[in-house]
Amino acid sequence: MTLYGVGLGPGDADLVTVRGKAVLQDADVVYSPGRLSRSVATEHVPAERIGDLDFPMTRDEDELRRAWKAAASEIAPRAREGTAAFVTLGDPNVYSTFGHLRRTLDAFHPEVDVETVPGVSAVTAFTTALGVEVAAGSTLALREAARGTAPTGPDRMVLFKVTDAPATHEKLVDAGYDVVYGRRLYMEQGETVVTDDPGALADRDYYTLAYAERDDVDATPATATFAETEDDGESSTERLRTDGGVNDGDQPKSGHARDDDPTTERERERLERAEGEACGDEFPGAVGR
Ligand SMILES: C[S@@+](CC[C@H](N)C(=O)[O-])C[C@H]1O[C@@H](n2cnc3c(N)ncnc32)[C@H](O)[C@@H]1O
Repeated sequence: MTLYGVGLGPGDADLVTVRGKAVLQDADVVYSPGRLSRSVATEHVPAERIGDLDFPMTRDEDELRRAWKAAASEIAPRAREGTAAFVTLGDPNVYSTFGHLRRTLDAFHPEVDVETVPGVSAVTAFTTALGVEVAAGSTLALREAARGTAPTGPDRMVLFKVTDAPATHEKLVDAGYDVVYGRRLYMEQGETVVTDDPGALADRDYYTLAYAERDDVDATPATATFAETEDDGESSTERLRTDGGVNDGDQPKSGHARDDDPTTERERERLERAEGEACGDEFPGAVGR
């Protein structure tokens, strides 16, 4: 049958997706690569359905290949006979052990179907936890900053594996970045910390990330000007309404507008352009207008 790679989200049991929860509840066996993912999984699955896998803590590639081959041999028969799940924190396709399992199954057990259920990744969850908005038109790079390293270059970076925050911080500040840190965001285990003080994170904790933004980055979205506007009344500028082009004034409240109606066509084009601009997109017909 199938092996499902299920993303559990950052750690809080109620950030597992509805689909992820359904898969976990239906699975005959649920494998977890670590203690934290296991404790989230057990919020949704009885402990007797959690499977055991052994993973060595090693960087030796031969040893890792042997361990994944052994894990795949354990999982494959369970996935052939029924439904198995392999959980990871965050999303299974973002910096995750699930990729090793999928490749090993493809190589040695190609008869096993593999499907992925995406999860809320720390790559996106950090925005809400740290109060950061990645506005349309911004670029954002994902990097690692383990053992006090500090990658530089992009205007905005999410840094994973910040295991020596003070050392990483010093290098980032020297390179002209403002930095905010998040530790154990949306996690039931351990203390959640959000801070711009690296001294508060001097002890090592693998579940620490950073958001670094160049201090000279200039990004002012159109709506930022509202903050400076004293008069909150209707301006002469028409307010944007982006409702997917379905409901607008006297347009039909449901179903699709008729394609042969020129008024509707113009209206739809106006709304599509407004929506595209709101997302920072170039409306295809707008060039040269
Ligand atoms: C191997 S990556 C796993 C990423 C995961 N698959 C995801 O999509 O979020 C682990 C790194 O992600 C970051 N991370 C993951 N979950 C986190 C959380 N809840 N709070 C803070 N950082 C987290 C940390 O930087 C950690 O070192």
